[in-house]
Amino acid sequence: MANYQWYPGHMTKAKRMMQEDIKLIDLIIELVDARIPLSSRNPDIDELGKNKSRIILLNKSDLADTRKNKTWMEYFSDRGFHVLEINAKTGAGIKSIQGVVQEACKEKIARDRKRGIINRPVRAMVAGIPNVGKSTFINSFAGKACTKTGNKPGVTKGKQWIRLNKGIELLDTPGILWPKFDDQSVGLRLAMIGSMNDEIVHLDELACELIDFLRAEYAGMLENRYEIEINDEQSAYDVIKSVCISKKCFLKGEELDIMKSSAMIVDDFRNGRIGKITLEMP
Ligand code: G4P
Repeated sequence: MANYQWYPGHMTKAKRMMQEDIKLIDLIIELVDARIPLSSRNPDIDELGKNKSRIILLNKSDLADTRKNKTWMEYFSDRGFHVLEINAKTGAGIKSIQGVVQEACKEKIARDRKRGIINRPVRAMVAGIPNVGKSTFINSFAGKACTKTGNKPGVTKGKQWIRLNKGIELLDTPGILWPKFDDQSVGLRLAMIGSMNDEIVHLDELACELIDFLRAEYAGMLENRYEIEINDEQSAYDVIKSVCISKKCFLKGEELDIMKSSAMIVDDFRNGRIGKITLEMP
């Protein structure tokens, strides 16, 4: 699990590396988490990546609300991004990327052609905050149909490129964007999807936040998952207690193991076992 201890030093280093790598590429393939497409993104990339072609991938779309994925696709597409929903783990959606890359880079390709440069591959980098699925994506996108081109002295010293068959070269190390904790709700959402160090998070508080959200936005899901009844008078904490009883989370004797059922609820959510859930909307 990613460990979000972002000190100014980490941030400066990540930013410097992005600035260096961006000089080498035509296209940024930015991954966001479909459950929190804004909180999992750092808008500084827009400034760093100006003049570059841009694609946004709503990754982990299998865990997010199918209908809301569509809303987010429209949101980003209205803002001028090429956007796709994918599941980097299974490879779903990845086949469409080739076409989108050509589309996103068509001005560059036309410019090259005018200058007599034909079939120069588009150079791309994958970027995103920790844990959004960058490595998983690179593996499934590159698959076996690729060869590492190795160092190209002078131009790309020390950089490894993965040559994909149809005109794309991918930098093999992804750009790491730093999370942007503008307000507390961003930190909370990152914690919910498991992108914060759980040692600095109180799981019972996190479970309460999740329960309140689910009761308001996804009525019935908790009841189904845990075979419990919930009425309006109950607090989120009462719901955790009900889950303790239903799922037999007890300490010695009859004492309820609140931390165990809290951890269960949070973990079930993170792994999609409660349902397909999106935590934020535009
Ligand atoms: P990073 O390079 O951006 O830091 O992320 P990484 O690829 O390491 O992925 C982080 C976690 O997210 C991994 O799980 C990975 O399997 C999972 N993941 C990536 N893409 C998807 C997706 O589209 N859907 C789902 N459901 N999961 C995805 P992990 O807990 O580290 O390992 P494991 O559970 O796969 O064993």
